[in-house]
Amino acid sequence: MPSSRNGSRNGAKSAAKAPSKSAAMRSSRFTPGAYFHDRVVLITGASSGIGRDLALAFAKMGAKVAMMARRKSLLDALADEIIAAGGDALPLAADVTRRTEVRDAADRTLAHFGRIDILINSAGIAIPDRVETMPPEDLERMMSVNLMGTLHTMQAVLPSMRAAGAGSIVNIASLAGRRGMPTLGAYCATKFAVVGLTEALRVELYGSGIRLSLVMPGVIDTPMVHGASDIQSVAAAAGNVPLKLIPDSLPAMPTQWVTWAVIAAVVLGLAEVDVPPGAVVMEKIAALFPGLTDAVLALGTRLFDWATRRI
Ligand SMILES: NC(=O)c1ccc[n+]([C@@H]2O[C@H](COP(=O)([O-])OP(=O)(O)OC[C@H]3O[C@@H](n4cnc5c(N)ncnc54)[C@H](OP(=O)(O)O)[C@@H]3O)[C@@H](O)[C@H]2O)c1
Repeated sequence: MPSSRNGSRNGAKSAAKAPSKSAAMRSSRFTPGAYFHDRVVLITGASSGIGRDLALAFAKMGAKVAMMARRKSLLDALADEIIAAGGDALPLAADVTRRTEVRDAADRTLAHFGRIDILINSAGIAIPDRVETMPPEDLERMMSVNLMGTLHTMQAVLPSMRAAGAGSIVNIASLAGRRGMPTLGAYCATKFAVVGLTEALRVELYGSGIRLSLVMPGVIDTPMVHGASDIQSVAAAAGNVPLKLIPDSLPAMPTQWVTWAVIAAVVLGLAEVDVPPGAVVMEKIAALFPGLTDAVLALGTRLFDWATRRI
């Protein structure tokens, strides 16, 4: 029988020991479903896009999903959908920029499910603009969600993971976190910061049993990319032209590609997974020739602007 999202059925019983990862991996009939069955996954940004797809995918594989975002009605509807399908879900209305709300949400997850095996940081915002003229407050806003939000959630779950001597944290960064791109300068700065924070923490946690992964997506088909995210809707309501990360004519990858990357990162303990595979390698090679890369990007951007203006 599906459990209630109010948490009455799970609590103490869910605190039972997590299935051994090595046992699941050793099984000759290894399936992600078996691996994630009964694991507790806390996902930020679960009300939309990548985070939503992750919540549905993990629930389908038998994981218990705690879902954090600000739009409670969307989380409630998603929890109802998961529970109706026989899964287990806990909606948590919280703003990741507020440390106390994040700690409270992590505490509620621990009280409800008994442990947190996996944390996935997907909450994020993007406000494209030129560095030369952008309002500095936009960078502060992105920093507080993309970077500080990631820090708050990691600090909230680490004590319980340390006590368990195990856990996985996956931070959704971006290909924009390895190379600066035009009109995304401030967003890039926040994702570079997430990459640095994650890499440093990974070394700090070396040998602790807690694994940290970076997932680095390119352009993914979500409301963020189509100018329909929460922040962009607010801009539109205020009479401003809704912001778009990329023109509609540019193809975007499906959210499932990121979900598969996250699953691979957790199961295989990968430090970094790019979407599509190999994209970060290209960026790392390009970083050896920064001047040439600047010229190619500048030329490409101008050609693209010229071509799309004519469509
Ligand atoms: N789409 C892409 O092309 C792409 C590429 C590379 C990386 N990424 C990264 O992937 C992640 C997910 O993005 P997406 O494309 O799925 O965007 P999305 O559909 O706009 O979803 C963003 C999520 O972040 C949550 N969020 C925003 N501000 C928050 C806050 N202060 N507190 C709590 N939650 C907050 C939103 O929920 P509420 O509004 O309900 O709070 C929403 O669930 C982001 O970190 C993004 O930077 C996306």
